[in-house]
Amino acid sequence: MIVLAHVSDVHIDGSERNTARTRRVMAYVDGLDVAAVVVTGDIADNGAEEEYAIARAELKTRHPTIICPGNHDDRTAFRKVLLDGADGTGAINQVIRVPGASIVLCDSSIPGRPDGLLDEPTLTWLDATLAAEPGPVLVGMHHPPAALGIPYVDGIGLGEPDRLAALLGKYPQVAAVLVGHAHTGAATTFAGRPLLVAPGVVSTALPPFEAGERPPVDYDLPPALAFHILSGGRVTTHYRALP
Ligand SMILES: [Fe+2]
Repeated sequence: MIVLAHVSDVHIDGSERNTARTRRVMAYVDGLDVAAVVVTGDIADNGAEEEYAIARAELKTRHPTIICPGNHDDRTAFRKVLLDGADGTGAINQVIRVPGASIVLCDSSIPGRPDGLLDEPTLTWLDATLAAEPGPVLVGMHHPPAALGIPYVDGIGLGEPDRLAALLGKYPQVAAVLVGHAHTGAATTFAGRPLLVAPGVVSTALPPFEAGERPPVDYDLPPALAFHILSGGRVTTHYRALP
């Protein structure tokens, strides 16, 4: 049995509020026995180096950690601060292996835009990477490739999701797809796999039935995260709010 902690959308902006929420979540994770921590984007609210410096300190944990960019992130600053100045200018695509599983994180950001896309080099990289991973594999990115019932989020989701679906169709060892961006703990399906959305650490997006007449983002609900248990090729997700 493999347990992963899934954290997303910490939006570090220099404010004590967002830093404290991130610290609360990471302190909780640090006290648990998990195989790895997956962070699915929107790390720095403005993509600034100073924000990444805070994020680097706050996301530090005793567990192996893999972090991908979101639409708020800046690839240059992300590489410089979070990846120790790693080479490259394009999409930041990464894989880590823990005993018994692999986690493959793609960069779905489009510089300067809120919506997402897996560009040609990323799709090629993902294809080659999955071909070499025996599985089980969890594939992650920032933008959800399917609608979640929140109109303003669904309008800035992953473009060309059919290309990802076709690619995943070749690789039955992919047990689930993990995403962020939506700021709500949610679960649906995509390409015949679970599509598991991490809550937002800094805020919670509300679907219309819940928001009613108020703004569709709640800043008072507590920070939350997801835990994914991988066992026998099947994923069970527990969502946990941390008041
Ligand atoms: Fe976000």
